[in-house]
Amino acid sequence: MSLSKINPKNTEAWKMLIKKREEIAGIQIIDLFDSSKNRIKKFSIEFDKMFLDFSKNIINDETFELLLKLCEDCELKKNIKSLFNGEKINETENRSVLHTALRDFNLNSEIGKELLLDRQKIEKFTNDILSGKTRGSTNKKITDIVNIGIGGSDLGPNMVVESLKFYKTDLNCHFVSNVDGDHLKEVLKLVDPETTVFIIVSKTFTTQETLTNAKKIKEFLISRSIEDISKHFIGVTSNIKSAVKFGLDKNNIFKMYDFVGGRFSVWGSVGLSVSLAVGYENFEKFLKGANKMDEHFKVSNFEKNIPVCLALISIWYNNFMNCETEAVLPYSEYLKFLPHYLQQMFMESNGKCIDRLSEKVDYQTGTIVWGGTGTNSQHAFFQLLHQGTKLIPCDFIGFKSSLHGNHDSHDKLMSNFVAQTQALMVGGSMGDSPFRKFKGNNPSNTILFDKVSPESLGMILSMYEHKVFVQGVILNIFSFDQWGVELGKSLATKLLTEIKSKNILNHDPSTKNLLEKLISK
Ligand code: F6P
Repeated sequence: MSLSKINPKNTEAWKMLIKKREEIAGIQIIDLFDSSKNRIKKFSIEFDKMFLDFSKNIINDETFELLLKLCEDCELKKNIKSLFNGEKINETENRSVLHTALRDFNLNSEIGKELLLDRQKIEKFTNDILSGKTRGSTNKKITDIVNIGIGGSDLGPNMVVESLKFYKTDLNCHFVSNVDGDHLKEVLKLVDPETTVFIIVSKTFTTQETLTNAKKIKEFLISRSIEDISKHFIGVTSNIKSAVKFGLDKNNIFKMYDFVGGRFSVWGSVGLSVSLAVGYENFEKFLKGANKMDEHFKVSNFEKNIPVCLALISIWYNNFMNCETEAVLPYSEYLKFLPHYLQQMFMESNGKCIDRLSEKVDYQTGTIVWGGTGTNSQHAFFQLLHQGTKLIPCDFIGFKSSLHGNHDSHDKLMSNFVAQTQALMVGGSMGDSPFRKFKGNNPSNTILFDKVSPESLGMILSMYEHKVFVQGVILNIFSFDQWGVELGKSLATKLLTEIKSKNILNHDPSTKNLLEKLISK
C-alpha cells in the first residue's frame, strides 16, 4: 500500500487552523502560561534520557488539538505503519523506505538476516584494522582513513565522526566530498599512502565528484609505488559491478540497498568510517539510540510523540504563520555539522512542489533549515532573531554535562542556552530607546539530553528523520526521491564536454557568455 493521497487543505483541521491563525495573532506566548496552568506538563515530553519542552511556542491548547486532528485527517497512523512495514511508499522510484531496518536488531526477516551479516562485516573489518590484523600493502598498520563520497555519502558520516570525536579510536579520519582538486590535494598532504585506507562511498557509483576523486587517488597511490592498491581501497555501494570494474576487490565492498536513500544511509555500511573512527561498539550504541526513537515514534500517542509534535509545530509556522525558515542551534561544538547535515535531510526530502496526486501544490512545503552552534551564533546572527522583522522558530539542543568535566565553562554555556530561549520569548527592554527594546514572542523548542553520546546522537538524528516523514505525509508530498538535483547534474555533464573541447554551443546569452569567459582563461 502506498501513502494516503489527501490534500491537507481540504481537511477540516486545516480549515479550522486557518481561522485559528487570526485568533492567535495578538497572543503573547508568555500569557499562555497564565491561561493554562498545566502548560509545561502538556507541552513537554520526557523520554529516556531526553526532555523536550515545546511550551515556548505560539500555540495554545486549541491550536494543538487542531494540529493533532490534522494528523488524523491525513491518516498519519496508517502511514507510519506503511513506513515500518516496508511498503513501497517511495512511489516515484517504486521502492520501500527502510532505513529504520538498518538499526533494528530484532528484525526476524530475510532482510533482517542480511543486515545482521552486514553489521558483522563492519565489526570485523573495524576490529581487524584497529588491531593491526589488516594492514597496508607494505605491511604497515593503518593510521588514517579517508571517506570519499558526497551528499548522503559524506554528510552523515562526517557529521557523526565530528560529533563523537570524544569517543575517537587511534585512527585519523578525513573526508573528501567536493570535486575540488585543491581540497583533495590538501587532504592527501596529510596522509601517508602506505598507512591509509580510502573508502569510496557511492550508492550509485556513478556520481561525478566521487568517481573523479577516486580516480585521482588511484593515480596518487600508483605514483607513490603502492603495489597492491586493493589493500588501500574499500567500496560502499549498491552498484557492485561498477565498483569491481573500477578495480575494487569484491571482498572489500560493503553493500548499500535501494530501500535506503543516501541522506538516510549513515546507519548502514555508509557508517563504516564512523565505526572505524569511534569503534564498532560505539557505532552499535549509535544505532540503538536511533532505534529507541523509532520505537517511541511507532507506539507513542501523538500528543506525546516527539517527532510528531516537532513536525506539527513546524507545519503550524510554515503553513499558517508564514515562516519560511527554522534554525537548529546545538549548544555543543561537537555538533557543529548538524545543521549542515539536516539541510540535506529536510530540504532534499521535502523541497517538492508536486503533491502525491501529481498536482502542483498551492501551499508551502519544505522549510529552509539553517543554524549554527551556540554561543558562537549568538555573536553572529542572533541579533536578527531578537530584533529582526522575521519570525524564525528555533530548536535549541543542549546537554546537561560536558564530556571533559569543565563545569565552569559548561555552566556558562548552558546559562546562555536557557537565557536565549527566555529572552526570545519574554523580550523586554534595556533602556528607553526603541533600539534597546525586544518585542519577544519568538518561538523555540528546547531539547535537552544528558550528554553528547553515540546513543543521544542516534536519538537526535532519528527524531529529525521522523519529523521529516510526518511533515511529508501531512503535506502530501513524496519525501524520499530527489529528482530536483538531476537536471543540474546532466547539464553539467554536457557543459563539461563543451569546456574541454572549447566548443561552446548555443545557450541562453548569460550562460554562453560565462562559458566563453571560462574557456578564454
Ligand atoms: O545529490 C543527489 C544525491 O543523489 C544524494 O541524494 C546522494 O546522497 C548523493 O547524490 C550521492 O549519491 P551517491 O551515493 O550515489 O554517490
